[in-house]
Amino acid sequence: MTRPHDARDELTVEQKAMLLSGRDSWTTHPIDDLGIASVTVSDGPHGLRVQDDAPADNLALMASRPATCFPPAVALGSSWDPAVAARVAEAIGREARSFGVDIVLGPGVNIKRSPLCGRNFEYFSEDPLLSGVQGAAYVRALQKTGVGASVKHFAANNQETDRMRVSADVDEQTLREIYLPAFERVVKDAQPATVMSAYNRINGVYASQNRWLLTDVLRGEWGFTGAVVSDWGAVHDPVAAVRAGLDLEMPGTGGRSAARLVEAVRSGDLDETELDRAVGRVLALAAWRAEKAEEIDLDAHHRLARELAAQCAVLLKNDGVLPLAPSTRVAVIGELARTPRFQGGGSSRVNAARTESFLDAVTDVDFRPGYTLDGNGDPDRLRADAVACAAAAEVTVIFAGLPEAEESEGFDRTTLELPAAQIDLIKAVATAAPKTVVVLSNGGIVTLEEWHDDVDAILEGFLLGQAGGGALADLLYGVVNPSGRLAETIPRRLAHTPSHATFPGGQGHVLYGERTLVGYRGYTTLDRPVRYPFGHGLSYTTFETKDFSVEVLGADTAVARTTVANTGERDGSHVVQVYVGEPPAGPVQRPRRELRAFTKVFVPAGQEVSVELPLDRRAFAYWDLELSDWVVTPGEHSVQLGRDSETIEAEVSVHLDGDVVVRELTLDSTFQEWLEHPIVGPTLVDDLKSDLVRDAAQPHILRGIGSLPMQKVVNLLGDNLPAGLIDTLMSKTRR
Ligand code: BGC
Repeated sequence: MTRPHDARDELTVEQKAMLLSGRDSWTTHPIDDLGIASVTVSDGPHGLRVQDDAPADNLALMASRPATCFPPAVALGSSWDPAVAARVAEAIGREARSFGVDIVLGPGVNIKRSPLCGRNFEYFSEDPLLSGVQGAAYVRALQKTGVGASVKHFAANNQETDRMRVSADVDEQTLREIYLPAFERVVKDAQPATVMSAYNRINGVYASQNRWLLTDVLRGEWGFTGAVVSDWGAVHDPVAAVRAGLDLEMPGTGGRSAARLVEAVRSGDLDETELDRAVGRVLALAAWRAEKAEEIDLDAHHRLARELAAQCAVLLKNDGVLPLAPSTRVAVIGELARTPRFQGGGSSRVNAARTESFLDAVTDVDFRPGYTLDGNGDPDRLRADAVACAAAAEVTVIFAGLPEAEESEGFDRTTLELPAAQIDLIKAVATAAPKTVVVLSNGGIVTLEEWHDDVDAILEGFLLGQAGGGALADLLYGVVNPSGRLAETIPRRLAHTPSHATFPGGQGHVLYGERTLVGYRGYTTLDRPVRYPFGHGLSYTTFETKDFSVEVLGADTAVARTTVANTGERDGSHVVQVYVGEPPAGPVQRPRRELRAFTKVFVPAGQEVSVELPLDRRAFAYWDLELSDWVVTPGEHSVQLGRDSETIEAEVSVHLDGDVVVRELTLDSTFQEWLEHPIVGPTLVDDLKSDLVRDAAQPHILRGIGSLPMQKVVNLLGDNLPAGLIDTLMSKTRR
């Protein structure tokens, strides 16, 4: 039988090496003679940043073509709705086609480990399930349009400080349970065209040169078949990178990396088959090339951006002042109402095709800027002017938020406060105005403590994309009923955040010391008060959930069911959140509760909708470091229906058979571990034939000496121990 034609057979080593790094910032090398086409990539993730003219750059310093700026990931995460992420991705796919872009560099599914991370606006959530579901929906929808995705930044890229070098020092249980699952879900459920390896190191090894990460886990365990692309400039040693499983180094290095790869093959340092493997994957990317599509309708995309943005904002507080009636006399305060902030800085910055401020979207309101975004101007005069205007209105809406200079790719924030001038403004206006509503625009969360109790309503808009102003108007006036939920906890103070003591580290290392207690997992386990918990969000209608039940289906899987009733006067959407918590005692620390299933349901006023949420084995499992596997502890597990991560409305305890774990015993295993071992434990006391052991095994004595390694017990027993017995027992536990 003849082997099918393989383009690699016709390539020289030099050509192969050349294909493994970019031609420039945004394209791969073509080899025209052999019909190998160039593939074009572009940022990503919430709109396109296509740079036509050199010099191109990955920091968005240079101009790019006008494109629709859709709601960034911070907003999509807050929608808790994969359909919203999918519709954004589908529209981006259409724009990519019209621009001739084959692969979009997104989505970003890194976990918001600290609210200070400068790039949190580009990530979905502090929770891996929510991040993974939104990311997978994005990738599936984008790739349906024929455009490839690049899920990034793999992995443990959770800060901007020293991002190109820092080693994220994180234990494997934490990686497996918190920092990898969103990537795992996207890879397994949506097969992205590419995965982008991160800048940072993980436990000392650069992500782009990390064989365990890129080959053992990503391909070996998760079955990834696409190409691994480096973040821009993340490769330090191209030979080590190829060996680890990296396929395409970006951007191009002017032939330097190719020369090193050729030299390594010639010297026998790198096997040519390793080169071939990577070349094969780069060539396969050509499958994502397609004919350029026709022009897109930017007006239709703007309308879509407005519709979807309105699904994302989170109503945090409302004493009844919202929604505003059309006849209400409204004062609008805050420069952000006129000059909206709707995206973050850095490589994701889109040259927005249109911009719609709140003031563009409403009529008949009195406006005063109240503050300036660049800090210029006389704050006292601006504030006094705003206060006078507010005093004459029925309701004042203050637009507050973070100026662009305060958050971006490339650096982390240092505080969670709004700018001082804005805080002063809110307090002064709230005193003078009959009713005050605050609308927030920020990529990472801000604390509300200094003014929360002074105002009547708070609408957290995060960053909503180019049509955010219109979406906020729709929400404030009740054209759309708010349905966003927090994808990230709003703490009372920065020092309460679980990662606080170790973020962002120093001297090249950041220790993930809070381990799995990230975000709400930390606040709930440590019993720390928060201002608004993960999952919180209000509506203009009211919902009741009833008949919560959980059925165990066998094989440690279950299904949770409940009925959602809309008991108010308006149609609206509710997010059903199912948490699993309080597992039986096991060998590792577990968070108090973890989100394991969710769904957003639309319920017309006065009606009910029943929902079913499957809980797979992983919903109950932890990562066992000794076994290198997922383990379900046998016994009772609590399944909880949460209004948010702190408000549990119903709870059902289920019994799971779980895994009977047989661990190998050694002389280093403790006496207690020997006694509890399912194979040798039950007869151990008899087998050792010693009164000393019999006494020691009594519960009140065992408590004190159970931690003795078996070697010490053996020493104590000396000659009384039957010869060879311990070895025989140990061999019974070997797998
Ligand atoms: C960012 C990536 C981005 C790339 C290309 C890097 O600096 O970390 O997210 O896709 O540049 O612009």
